[in-house]
Amino acid sequence: MDPRSEVLLRQAQLFAGPLLLAGLPSDDLLGHLPNARSWSWHAGDHGLLESRFAGRNHFGVTPAPVAAPAAVLFLPKSRDLTEYLLSALAAQLAGGDLFLVGEKRAGIERAAKQMAAFGKPRKLDSARHCQLWQVRVDNVPPAPDLEALAQYYSLQLADGPLTVVSLPGVFSHGRLDVGSQLLLQHLDGLQPGHMLDFGCGAGVLGSALKRRYPDSRISMLDVDAFAVASSRLTLAHNNLEAEVICGDGIDAAPLGLSTILSNPPFHQGVHTHYQASENLLRQAARHLDANGQLRLVANSFLKYPPLIEQHLGACTILDEAKGFRIYDARKK
Ligand SMILES: C[S@@+](CC[C@H](N)C(=O)[O-])C[C@H]1O[C@@H](n2cnc3c(N)ncnc32)[C@H](O)[C@@H]1O
Repeated sequence: MDPRSEVLLRQAQLFAGPLLLAGLPSDDLLGHLPNARSWSWHAGDHGLLESRFAGRNHFGVTPAPVAAPAAVLFLPKSRDLTEYLLSALAAQLAGGDLFLVGEKRAGIERAAKQMAAFGKPRKLDSARHCQLWQVRVDNVPPAPDLEALAQYYSLQLADGPLTVVSLPGVFSHGRLDVGSQLLLQHLDGLQPGHMLDFGCGAGVLGSALKRRYPDSRISMLDVDAFAVASSRLTLAHNNLEAEVICGDGIDAAPLGLSTILSNPPFHQGVHTHYQASENLLRQAARHLDANGQLRLVANSFLKYPPLIEQHLGACTILDEAKGFRIYDARKK
């Protein structure tokens, strides 16, 4: 059980009635709180919850109508996203209770201050390196307009200008990541056909691919509903067409790909996870056509080449700069 869920269950009497759990981990919590429903924006967590607690889960960037006098937000990593989520929940909770739970090292105390806009926040519990806060929503905010919170930045690419639209919580919100910048300099010589941007974030790589290979079909995949929404906004803003998929890991990607391009994930929350990236390297061959190609950027310290060579084929380093490497491999 996630420690944040354990902290909620220490106060189980508070959560016995109708309740919305937002951004919850995919653990047993819903089993202990039979009147609770969930709202997730992580496709993996949502899928796991739905497989165990069918019909009680909502997925997307906006909350399902709360229809409950209380909601709990599990503190996300990004401060901007926290602000959006708190407002989206408080907007539906006039006179109700909004709870916030999170790890101390994830910044729960600072985040609790963001609840002061709705009433007087109170700390209810502190255990398992986590805290639980509550506010009675007396000052009801208007429902936030997510698109109004988007940040825009423009790039001068070899194929013309591109404006990237990013939403709160999306990787490298409002600016181009250094690794992605390096990968954008290495879009030549890829196999056209059906190309995938794995872990598309705000859609910068997939959009740049469509610009460089306009006759190719482009798919973009991310586990995070806010990333997927950002990628759609970026494509629309630049009049580009691509298929955007919300799914967990390479298993959710189409087969028969000519190229997989990626700045793969390696940080998640305050913990470090390589699983989605390692799975990408292990499974890429299954998703690539004969002679299909994988090109990615990664921190130089990550030991990806042996995995790539074991599961795909000879791995070449095309470039190295600012602590990042560009890897390129073709299916054997
Ligand atoms: C390093 S970021 C790159 C984002 C974007 N391509 C860019 O260059 O700015 C990695 C992305 O992978 C996504 N991601 C993390 N775990 C994933 C998973 N299991 N399946 C698909 N995408 C995932 C994250 O949400 C994040 O947007």
